[in-house]
Amino acid sequence: MAAGFAFFGTCVDTPRLGEVRGLEAPSLLVVSDGRISQRCMGAEALERRRQLEQEGVEVRVLEQGEVLLPGFIDGHIHFPQFCFAGCGIDMPLMHPEGFLAKYAFPTEESMGEVERAKVVYRAALEVLLHCGTTTAVIYGSLHLGASKVLVDVALERKGPRAFVGKVCADRYCPDTYVEETEQSLQDTEDFIQYTQSRRTGSEAPFLVQPVVTPRFLPTCTPKLLQGLGRLADKYGCIIQSHLSESIDEVEFSATLFPGQTDAEVFHQFGLLKSPSMMGHSVQLMQGEEELLRQNGAAIAHCPLSNFFFASGALPVKQLLKRGVKVALGTDIAGGYSPSMLTAMRSAVMAAKTLQFRHVKGCAFGTESEAPSAKRAKNAEAPAGSSEDELSHFEALYLATKGGAEALDLGHLLGSFEVGCRFDALRLRSQVGPMASFPASSQADMLLKIITLGDDRNVKQVFVDGELVHSL
Ligand code: GUN
Ligand code: FE
Repeated sequence: MAAGFAFFGTCVDTPRLGEVRGLEAPSLLVVSDGRISQRCMGAEALERRRQLEQEGVEVRVLEQGEVLLPGFIDGHIHFPQFCFAGCGIDMPLMHPEGFLAKYAFPTEESMGEVERAKVVYRAALEVLLHCGTTTAVIYGSLHLGASKVLVDVALERKGPRAFVGKVCADRYCPDTYVEETEQSLQDTEDFIQYTQSRRTGSEAPFLVQPVVTPRFLPTCTPKLLQGLGRLADKYGCIIQSHLSESIDEVEFSATLFPGQTDAEVFHQFGLLKSPSMMGHSVQLMQGEEELLRQNGAAIAHCPLSNFFFASGALPVKQLLKRGVKVALGTDIAGGYSPSMLTAMRSAVMAAKTLQFRHVKGCAFGTESEAPSAKRAKNAEAPAGSSEDELSHFEALYLATKGGAEALDLGHLLGSFEVGCRFDALRLRSQVGPMASFPASSQADMLLKIITLGDDRNVKQVFVDGELVHSL
């Protein structure tokens, strides 16, 4: 197989939580037919670079201050909601005057006009590529037409990889934005068939994929959930929904499905499997974590959104340690930023909040408990410990390999392992607030980009080996 091109320089990935590769010495990645066919490091990388250049293969050399990463995977995002991102987050999620009623539902309803949906979805894809997102697990709206348009525009733009859900909801929505159960199921089947027929190539990871998408339990009848479970099974589809998202959601769901947790209901209807991408899961009740783990279902952790709606922070590290899969998501527009860099920073901060009550302080040279920890002893502290600490590099794992594992695509996406598709972003630290203050090591350079970076730092983006965005 002929080499298409190669990259040489600081190519960094996180193949496992806590492991960061490629910071110490330059590496070489060879890309053939859109996939990584070879990877070497150090002296071997130098030697191989020389050979390739002699063979006439194009070797793209990363500059000082640049780093190549696997493309970001956004595990949870609502495309219509780009229109009001930044607004409505000071309201409760489910109140009659809240986020869903006042912002999400009316905006999504407007996607019924297909031409409007096309404009919004094209712009949303563009924003994601500028942010370095190469795969997104997407909620559209209830409309079949607009959902098909989303598939069309993603294919036309050739990125990011779009796992698209036509949203399903047959109760507790506005009269003008709700479905009949049978119609919802028919439209979902039509959407699945359409999207699968538009896949290019014969095997995963496809550029577009349908996702069976019950919005969340409050808006779905048992009959709808049952039908969707059957469709997911029949067509081998990924599933997404919101699970134990917030206190108001969990309390309302409990009135609709008495005596059952969210996870039990999804499980009962065949909607908790591998891969299922369940948003949030901050308010998990007894037994839900175990159900997720046993069934290989993943949590799409949306830390920024959780600050506003979930009344809690997800104990990501503990969940990962106990074998639950966790991806990272922006949750536009429950979270206001489309950037996975912001999602990573928010994940680190959210994990910090779990530690606040458990910090050991050092007062004038004496190891002692921090005042906050002493005070917390008398308060009803939530479960949390130093085990909850999440580093920025661990957040990078969530944004790349963690998301790929959640989709059961860890062998094809999320790292620079040989055999993976070349979905990647070339970052530069020479612009933005860090530009005049070069880092003293490659690790610090990457940290600066993760903590201070934005779309100005995303110089090039590749999906399937193709350059799909460059500055
Ligand atoms: N739960 C159900 N629908 C939504 C939504 O659109 N956004 C958020 N954040 N939570 C939801
Ligand atoms: Fe959401």
